Amino acid sequence: MLFDFAKISARDGYKLMVATITPRPIAWVVSQDGNGHLNAAPFSFFNAFSGDPPVVGIGIGSHEPGRAKDTRRNICETREFVVNLVSETVAEAMNITAIEFEPEVNELAEARLKTIPSVHVKPPRIAASPVSLECALLQTVELGPDNGLVLGRILAMHVHDDLVLDPAKHYIDTPNLKLIGRMHGTGWYARTSDLFSRDRIPRANWTLRAAKAESQV
Ligand SMILES: Cc1cc2nc3c(=O)[nH]c(=O)nc-3n(C[C@H](O)[C@H](O)[C@H](O)COP(=O)(O)O)c2cc1C
Repeated sequence: MLFDFAKISARDGYKLMVATITPRPIAWVVSQDGNGHLNAAPFSFFNAFSGDPPVVGIGIGSHEPGRAKDTRRNICETREFVVNLVSETVAEAMNITAIEFEPEVNELAEARLKTIPSVHVKPPRIAASPVSLECALLQTVELGPDNGLVLGRILAMHVHDDLVLDPAKHYIDTPNLKLIGRMHGTGWYARTSDLFSRDRIPRANWTLRAAKAESQV
């Protein structure tokens, strides 16, 4: 079925996007305003976009027309933030921080989350998150009147000690991070425990395989 985005409402386009572009990783962002008020909220329009420089991007909307979500306002103001990744064990707390609180409410306190000071940036990281990325604002891209893409350069990554397999080789125990992804609708999530593996196919092997298939015809 064809859904022509020129002929449907923005709301319906959004519904199609979030129901199909799944699973999405979740950035659980801690930020601060200029007065040091802490803020935390999850965002699933999130991914990594470059290894060198190391860049992540987060799409952040508005609470209502003209009132950007606190996270986007804070990042534009102070140019620093921490992306905490979300494991199964912190899913409940993450959901509490998504409540549309007033700007002065500290969601970290509401969800009874412990924080640890960051090394390079002012906002702290969430202690219970298995992985946290300290980020500096690289650029914001205005996507429309009420949506913006925040691009952040990763300055440092914290990983819980027991999830680092080999610090010298930078090997991480990814399956045991037990990260969750956001699925369709407002409440569905996916675990990352149902994995499968395929080796990359070298170009030469592909040619050999194609020749073999040809000879069997
Ligand atoms: C799992 C999850 C993912 C979310 N992803 C986004 C997103 O990508 N963009 C967005 O604008 N809001 C997203 N939200 C909603 C925000 O978290 C919510 O509006 C929050 O109150 C914003 O807080 P803030 O004003 O403190 O920044 C998401 C909510 C949840 C639970």
